[in-house]
Amino acid sequence: MEKSIITAYIEQNKARLLSELFELLRIPSVSADSTKSADVIKTAEAVKQRLIDAGADKVELCETKGFPVVYGEKIIDPKKPTVVVYGHYDVQPAEPLELWDSPPYEPIIKKTEVHPEGAIFARGACDDKGQMYMHVKAFELMMKTNTLPCNVKFMIEGEEEVGSPSLGPWIIANKERLKGDVILISDTSIIANDTPSIDTGLRGLAYMEVEVVGPNRDLHSGVYGGAVANPINILCKMIASCHDENNHITIPDFYADVMELSIEERAEMAKAPFDLNEFKKDLNVDDVLGEKGYSTIERTGIRPTLDVNGIWGGYIGEGAKTVLPSKAFAKISMRLVPNQNSEKISAIFQKYFESIAPKSVTVNVKPHHGGEPYYLSSENTGYKAASMAMQETYGKKPVPTRGGGSIPIVALFRKELGLDSVLLGFGLDSDALHSPNEHYGLFNYYKGIETIPLFYKYYTELSSK
Ligand code: BES
Ligand code: MN
Ligand code: MN
Repeated sequence: MEKSIITAYIEQNKARLLSELFELLRIPSVSADSTKSADVIKTAEAVKQRLIDAGADKVELCETKGFPVVYGEKIIDPKKPTVVVYGHYDVQPAEPLELWDSPPYEPIIKKTEVHPEGAIFARGACDDKGQMYMHVKAFELMMKTNTLPCNVKFMIEGEEEVGSPSLGPWIIANKERLKGDVILISDTSIIANDTPSIDTGLRGLAYMEVEVVGPNRDLHSGVYGGAVANPINILCKMIASCHDENNHITIPDFYADVMELSIEERAEMAKAPFDLNEFKKDLNVDDVLGEKGYSTIERTGIRPTLDVNGIWGGYIGEGAKTVLPSKAFAKISMRLVPNQNSEKISAIFQKYFESIAPKSVTVNVKPHHGGEPYYLSSENTGYKAASMAMQETYGKKPVPTRGGGSIPIVALFRKELGLDSVLLGFGLDSDALHSPNEHYGLFNYYKGIETIPLFYKYYTELSSK
């Protein structure tokens, strides 16, 4: 497969490749919002049709307890390797809507400092409709130019942003159909458009909800205040006690299974280009904050964390109400690294949180979804093929990096299907994923479509050696 065939195809079809993505972005497929269920299904149907149009066989919407998985395949020769593509067609909620400069489901192109050639602004533009659709279009390209070098299977789900509750059972029930050699995913970031990189790791997740209950009803804060535990005060103290003055997590055994990197490995990681001033400027903060003894890249890549995602209770309406609330709540998540285990961490968190509560309150801890961390060596054949593909299209060898986010299903692919996942992402961390004004660079979209066919080529070549 010549790179010139690829670039010529992209050049000739440039406008259509973009307008088709725009159509997908116009459907608000928010998996977390039950009022948008019909739109999530509409998006699945649209993806199904696009796979058919691109030339896939056996395309179907596979029913699950939740939203359907879109499946499709092209088997050109059973003796050739099979690449299994994973992506997700669901998106995060767009709220708060007032913080968007343009409506989240009306994609438009705007230029930005890091995307001088323009970026597509819409919810899901980067995470993950834009990145997922690059695979459909790269497949179309290989079909139309007669250059598909191996077999391909697509598995596009609609519940990634709510923890993939149905995909686990679905892959277990479809092991035969999902037989392949490697999983290919574009749902992560690169360092910068002139600095390609490939994530070799993802963090896991343990997500908890806690409730602190004090008196049996809200009380007059003058009549009772000072004599009865205030659950909000207590909860804040409990949360504060989870970190020490070095921002080290204090929960006993929390770090027990954390894989420590050697000095050499840390030195290797430190070679990845990273501009702390740019990082601070992008977030408009005067300084960063994190675990003592680790760099910013290490804090997001190889260290576990504990963060409050939301906290509520008491009076938050207009004006002042003097009340001593009966209850306080928080959602607390922990990002995990190899070889931590989400169930084990959930259990020790629960034990710790219950143990630090004073007798004057009761604490209820409920675990939400979790997921396991993931690591893939840069010696892996799939990684190498991805590296060669990027080297050819970016003119630079990509840097191995550790992603801070989570794609929990990836650990399950390895456990249940025995398949490694290659994280060939093309987004930027500054693309505002999950935030208002999410966007995806035009450069990144077309670069992805250009790079993916080369992954197939190099993977097929390396596998037959
Ligand atoms: N695509 C992201 C994960 C990601 C983003 C990984 C950037 C690496 C770099 C994914 O859609 C996501 O948001 N995952 C959730 C997981 C959760 C909903 C179970 C996350 O990381 O919070
Ligand atoms: Mn994603
Ligand atoms: Mn996401």
